[in-house]
Amino acid sequence: MIEKIYLIGMGPGDVKYLTLEAVEVIRKLKLFLIPVKAGKKEALTLKRKEIIAQIKPEKDYRLLEIPFPERKRTGSYKKEVKKWRESKAQILKEVLKKETEKEGGFLVWGDPSIYDGHLEIFKEVQKELNFSLEVIPGISAFQILSAKHQISLTEIGGTLIFTTPRGIKKFTQLQDRIVVFLDNYETYKNFTSQNLKIYWGAYLGTPEEILFSGNLKEVLPQIIELRRKLRKEKGFIMETYLLSPISEL
Ligand SMILES: C[S@@+](CC[C@H](N)C(=O)[O-])C[C@H]1O[C@@H](n2cnc3c(N)ncnc32)[C@H](O)[C@@H]1O
Repeated sequence: MIEKIYLIGMGPGDVKYLTLEAVEVIRKLKLFLIPVKAGKKEALTLKRKEIIAQIKPEKDYRLLEIPFPERKRTGSYKKEVKKWRESKAQILKEVLKKETEKEGGFLVWGDPSIYDGHLEIFKEVQKELNFSLEVIPGISAFQILSAKHQISLTEIGGTLIFTTPRGIKKFTQLQDRIVVFLDNYETYKNFTSQNLKIYWGAYLGTPEEILFSGNLKEVLPQIIELRRKLRKEKGFIMETYLLSPISEL
């Protein structure tokens, strides 16, 4: 019976961005839960397996594949995400009930506390199964973005907003700095009448990393063309950007 689950922040997918604590935990564990999406060749599944294999070349562990469903893309977004998380929790309950190992690890992209539902999902599983949780923080995409562009995200007395494209849609004018995760709606187009600087990064911290920065109005056409091309070629895009009122930086 499972007694403890570690949610391990794996950074952007390269072992060099794992913390020492994450490495120590991965090294001691003998069981890893690997989420797989039905019928999909998943880059994230492969990355998880690759990282574990690199940290544990002696292969003294077992991978337990968890068949997670796809999220329904129709209906109310919040309701569908809730239902999706509940169905994932249900699947985990069934799998973990039968597990004989006492401890298991679950690698989460970047940091488990930033735009990721696994912490809530495991808390839901805990309502039925008696195990403890430990979260191991990881390096998030936005930290790599700021490091690579060599910028400070915060200013003295300033506010930094973190959001998604659904969140940034609520703004008409940007007064503060804002970090946006994945912008499939190309929301940055809404702000070209403002004097803003963009610091953009795709596949940050990986060999495919691309960085772009400049006045939003000037560099946006290049960013949009590039992200569309990359999305088509690779099937997905990992992008994060910072928008900042220009007088600030
Ligand atoms: C579901 S969120 C998870 C974020 C993750 N927990 C973190 O801390 O980075 C996934 C989004 O994070 C952003 N992201 C994650 N890794 C990235 C990377 N290496 N480069 C650029 N953006 C990344 C992308 O916007 C991606 O769609």
